[in-house]
Amino acid sequence: MAENFDVKLDEAKYYTPKAHCREQSWVGDYNRAYQEFLANPDGFWDSVARELEWFQPWDRVKEWEYPHARWFLNGKLNITHNCLDRHVQNQRRNKVAIMWRGETEEEERILTYRQLYHAVCRFANGLSRLGVGKGDRVCIYMPLVPEQIIAMLACARIGAIHSVVFGGFGVSALNQRIKGIGAKVVVTADFTYRRGKAIPLKNVVEEAVVNAPSVERIVILRRDLDKPVEIHPEMEVDYYDLMEGVERECPAEPMDAEDPLFVLYTSGTTGTPKGIVHTCGGYMVGTYYTTKNVFDIKDSDIFWCTADPGWITGHSYCVYGPLLNGATCLITEATPDYPDPGTYWDLIEEYGVTIFYTAPTAIRMFMRVGEEWPNRYNLSSLRILGSVGEPLNPEAFEWYYRTIGKDRCPIMDTWWQTETGMHMLTTMIGEPMRPGFVGRPLPGVVADVVDMAGKPVPPGTGGLLVIKEPWPSMMRTIWNDDERYCKYWNTIPGCYTAADLAVKDKDGYIMVIGRSDDLIVVAGHNIGTAEVESALVSHEAVAEAAVIGIPDALKGNAIKAFVILRNGRRPGEKLRNDLVYHVRMTLGPIAIPSEIEFVESLPKTRSGKIMRRVLKAQELGMDPGDISTLEE
Ligand code: PRX
Repeated sequence: MAENFDVKLDEAKYYTPKAHCREQSWVGDYNRAYQEFLANPDGFWDSVARELEWFQPWDRVKEWEYPHARWFLNGKLNITHNCLDRHVQNQRRNKVAIMWRGETEEEERILTYRQLYHAVCRFANGLSRLGVGKGDRVCIYMPLVPEQIIAMLACARIGAIHSVVFGGFGVSALNQRIKGIGAKVVVTADFTYRRGKAIPLKNVVEEAVVNAPSVERIVILRRDLDKPVEIHPEMEVDYYDLMEGVERECPAEPMDAEDPLFVLYTSGTTGTPKGIVHTCGGYMVGTYYTTKNVFDIKDSDIFWCTADPGWITGHSYCVYGPLLNGATCLITEATPDYPDPGTYWDLIEEYGVTIFYTAPTAIRMFMRVGEEWPNRYNLSSLRILGSVGEPLNPEAFEWYYRTIGKDRCPIMDTWWQTETGMHMLTTMIGEPMRPGFVGRPLPGVVADVVDMAGKPVPPGTGGLLVIKEPWPSMMRTIWNDDERYCKYWNTIPGCYTAADLAVKDKDGYIMVIGRSDDLIVVAGHNIGTAEVESALVSHEAVAEAAVIGIPDALKGNAIKAFVILRNGRRPGEKLRNDLVYHVRMTLGPIAIPSEIEFVESLPKTRSGKIMRRVLKAQELGMDPGDISTLEE
């Protein structure tokens, strides 16, 4: 693993943001803030937590019984009290919380904190009507509309555990997640809109609940109020009917700091996805702190995170983090290139967005279509840019900095994961930025690049990125599979292993290179090779399949599949298209292979494990490394 990376340590190119960025930022001087944290880690998090309101204070900041941590012991709170009541009860009552835009200008909705508060209370009362209570699981499979966020907050209000599934997932992916979590209720909509087309969601849910006996009710949001939707009354209920006549107040359930807030599934290296469990107290503190300090959010900001709440980025930075900070957020169902590649820049100009947080894939797409698109719009409201989900390559950094930020805006390249809940590494505001490098650990986080024995590797040498101390918003376990959780902390002694390869420079800046396991990050989304392989094998023509990631200029990585057909099946274009369609229907469009090669055999170990590494080396014309375990 200890490869030498071509990091030209002495030719470091740094961008130094203007002094006022740092002087006016919440965090101020990074080194000072980091030293303060190191001097008293528990005291550091204690004072962050005190900025929020608790029903009962904690006895102890943390308890660490390797590898399980508990934070803010015996503290009682409700995250929605801090996202809503705290603002409604003071000067943010009539401040705009959410601005939503559909695909066209005509579709717009604006909710103040007061309006959002009542909408959440009403839906919480609606869920209670259906018998949902503390600890019950609710699956949310919705388009990016305000009701998606309202449903999440309504669950949190009454102590139900939400599990949001991205609306782009197909039947079997949804079914697996609903069953995994044992959802009592599924909240969905009749349609989502994408590039001008209505894409049905309700029928996906109806198929996905067929063999999921835990599901008692399905709540359906009608997108078009004038268009009725067929409701099967024994199981289904119309969102608006459910809200009919309910109270617009709903007391916030007092939750223990360690009660689960939500479970979010992420791809695993084996076939089944992992239900990452986050808790009420620690997650609240972590997302509040990072939104405030990494994005330096102020009351006058208009914050836009382009993620869907179906992913962790949306949970933490479209919903909880910004609302905990009383921010005004833009959310949109619009796609960046529809109706044309100016859509996002138009929205920034129109809504006066000041903080813009997106993914490298989107940035590379914008680069490709050319700077004439952003140049048509006035982007002078922007003050901070952000990036997440995959490495931001230096070319994309420079384009983003120059063309979008006009050499003025710091770029917050943030490294973190579903499991970490909050940002872990970045270059804090005012610090010199090094393109290609994420930066250093946030004050509050202890991270390093180490070898398999846990020993820090010298600058310029590759290693594994690890976190060395617990942090408040770390996942607490994997739903129903604590053993799988423990693996994260047992691979390298004393450390949480992120399974990312990284390299450090002499200033401690960290470059994240990619995954060290069988996950492929495609356009910023984690896809497990095993998931795609089992989707392919579930097609009647396929005997065996192996999937690898191959470099892609736009998406970072693309999926290539090698397929062995069953006896008597002939390869061909038609079958290739069938397989693509099959993967789309089972897993969803994000998991579609961009290439399928029909083969006669696959490289395997003597014990029968497919050696994807060998396929990948072959594909990229590289040395396959140690092949002594290869079957033949
Ligand atoms: O490989 C890293 C990559 O995305 C993985 C986490 O994926 P997920 O849990 O889906 O969360 C994505 C959004 C937080 C990481 O293990 N990754 C995330 N951010 C970056 C990154 N790689 C490089 N640079 C980043 N800024």
